[in-house]
Amino acid sequence: QIEAVIFDLDGVLIDTAEYHYVAWKNLAADMGFEFKREDNERLKGVSREESLRILLETGAVEKTEAEKQELAARKNEAYLKSIQGLTEEDLLPGVRGFLRELQTFNVPFALGSASRNASVILEGTGISPLFAAVVDGNDLGKAKPDPEVFLKGAEKMGIAPEACVVFEDAQAGIDAARAAGMRVVAVGSPEMLTGADFYISNLKDITFAGLKRELGVPSS
Ligand code: G6P
Ligand code: MG
Repeated sequence: QIEAVIFDLDGVLIDTAEYHYVAWKNLAADMGFEFKREDNERLKGVSREESLRILLETGAVEKTEAEKQELAARKNEAYLKSIQGLTEEDLLPGVRGFLRELQTFNVPFALGSASRNASVILEGTGISPLFAAVVDGNDLGKAKPDPEVFLKGAEKMGIAPEACVVFEDAQAGIDAARAAGMRVVAVGSPEMLTGADFYISNLKDITFAGLKRELGVPSS
């Protein structure tokens, strides 16, 4: 059965994965190196601090702790500027419709994101009240691929992990969902992401009935 759904945020509900990338890319340019799109895959789903660590590693740049803090703060400032004035229009295709459909079927859903800016986005796009639970970077001890984020989401909803389905666009997130014992739908291509139950390019590709069919859940 599917008793609840847990959504990643950046790159699943909204195209902020791109804004994160642009902000990191500009930071790299300031430090004198190019941060390529293919290298950005490793940054998806991981915390701000871990993202910076990977970025610096990619550019073979070493920084002190204080410098790292300043760089992370600078990136976040640029990122926050780019997500200013978000509206419902900025949700990815199919998101509004799929969330509405889940509500129709009384299937609760939670947010499971590594971002500490999740509430800004949920408020801006007006979807905040729809969520039964929100777990974001402010609540987390361990980042994806640790399952903590999704297990907390399931627990807050009072649903067993096995009854949850996760939507993810990041490898770290798919691995986290698997480790939580959940089924997972990848938003992306099988060439880029491994280990999901199936793949969609956006939420426009899926209905609740289709989700059950793909996961082999008998329609009641
Ligand atoms: C998400 C994104 C990452 C981002 C992380 C932290 O998981 O996929 O790209 O770095 O959240 O986000 P924050 O908004 O707290 O910097
Ligand atoms: Mg994501």
